[in-house]
Amino acid sequence: MTARARDMKAAGINVLSFAAGEPDFNTPEEIREAAKVALDEGQTKYCSSRGLPLLIEAIQRKVSRENGFQCNANQVVVSCGAKHSIYNALQVLINPGDEVILFAPFWMTYADQVLLAGGKPVIIHTTAETGFTPDPDQIKRAITAKTKVLIVNTPSNPTGGAWSRQLIKEVASIALKHNLMIISDEIYERLTYDHDHCSFASLSKDVAAHTITILGVSKTYSMTGWRIGFSVSTPEIATAIANFQDQVTSNATTFAQAGAAAALDSATETVAGMKQKFCDRRELGLKLLGDISGLKTAPPKGAFYFFTDVSLYLTGRISTDVDLADHLLDTAHIATIPGSVFYGPGHLRLSYANSPEAITEGFTRLKNALNDLS
Ligand SMILES: Cc1ncc(COP(=O)(O)O)c(C=O)c1O
Repeated sequence: MTARARDMKAAGINVLSFAAGEPDFNTPEEIREAAKVALDEGQTKYCSSRGLPLLIEAIQRKVSRENGFQCNANQVVVSCGAKHSIYNALQVLINPGDEVILFAPFWMTYADQVLLAGGKPVIIHTTAETGFTPDPDQIKRAITAKTKVLIVNTPSNPTGGAWSRQLIKEVASIALKHNLMIISDEIYERLTYDHDHCSFASLSKDVAAHTITILGVSKTYSMTGWRIGFSVSTPEIATAIANFQDQVTSNATTFAQAGAAAALDSATETVAGMKQKFCDRRELGLKLLGDISGLKTAPPKGAFYFFTDVSLYLTGRISTDVDLADHLLDTAHIATIPGSVFYGPGHLRLSYANSPEAITEGFTRLKNALNDLS
C-alpha cells in the first residue's frame, strides 16, 4: 500500500497515507548534533559487534531508570534496528521444528522471522473485546513439548493494545513453569497513553533470566532511518547473539550509535513534546472515527495506530479488508493497511503519525467513501 501510495503521489495525485509505521517528526536536533560530532571526531570505524561502550552504558542507565531492572554491559547487544535484534534472538534460540507462540493480530515480521529460523509459528487469536490481549488459559492450551518462545509486543503494533501488569505476571509465571523464553518487544514502551509500561524483566531475576527485552530508538525518538535497536538478555544469550551478529553485520553504524546514546541520555523533553502531539492526534482521530457509523475503534493504549473494525462494510463487491483498502486508495486516495496482513482480518490499521490537518482531511474522506459504499 505504501509503495502504491508513493507511485500515485509521484503521478500528482493528492494521496494521504495512514500506512506508515514511523513518526512523522524530524529526529530531534540534540541527537543529530551528537552524531555530527561523532562523525567529525572520526567515529567512522568498526567497533565491537556488541556496540559502542558509550551507548551500552547509556542503555544500562536507561533500563535502570525507565524499565525497572539492572543489567551489566555483557547483557546488551546493539543491532541495526529492533527488527534485527528480534531476528538475532530467534536465530540463536530456535532449532528446526521449535514452536513460537504469537498473539494475533501481530506485527507480520514475527511470523516470517520464526520461519526463517526454521521454527513454527503458533498463533493465538485475540479480539477487541479483551483489548487484544490473550487469556492465560489460551497460552496454557497452546503449549506443547516443542514450544520454546513466546513473542509479546506491548504496546502493540498494529492494535495499540497493551498488556496489564497482572497479565504480564501471569504469562511470566507460565513461561517459568514450562521453561520458555519470552521475546518481549517493547519498541513502543514510551508511547503509552493511559498506563505505565511494565517490562517483563522488571518482575524478578528469574523472569529476567527467561526474557530477551527488545528496545530501540526508532519510534520514541523518531530515528527509524538510523537503524539502531538493542536487546538485553542473559550474558550467555547476549554472547550467542553477539557471535551470530559478528558473522552477519558486525557492529551497527558507529556514529548512529553515538546519536542513539545522546537520545537515551538527553532527549527527555523533546520526547515528551512528541508524545503530547501523539496524544492530541489520538483524541482527534478517535473523535472523527467515532462519527463514522458502523466503524468500531478500540481506543489505543499505546503506539500510534488505530485498528478499526470495518467488518460491517465488507459486503458484495468489497468483501475483504484488502478489497476495502484497495478501494479507499483508488477512490478516496487514502492509504491504509488491511488488518489481514497482521492476522486481524476485518480491520484496517490507520497510523496517526500524521499532522492534525491530514488526519482531519483523511478521515473525512474515509467517512464519505464509506457512506458512498453503504
Ligand atoms: C512491533 C515492532 N517491533 C519492531 C519494529 C522495528 O523497529 P526498528 O525500526 O527498530 O527495526 C517495529 C517497526 O515497525 C514494530 O512495529
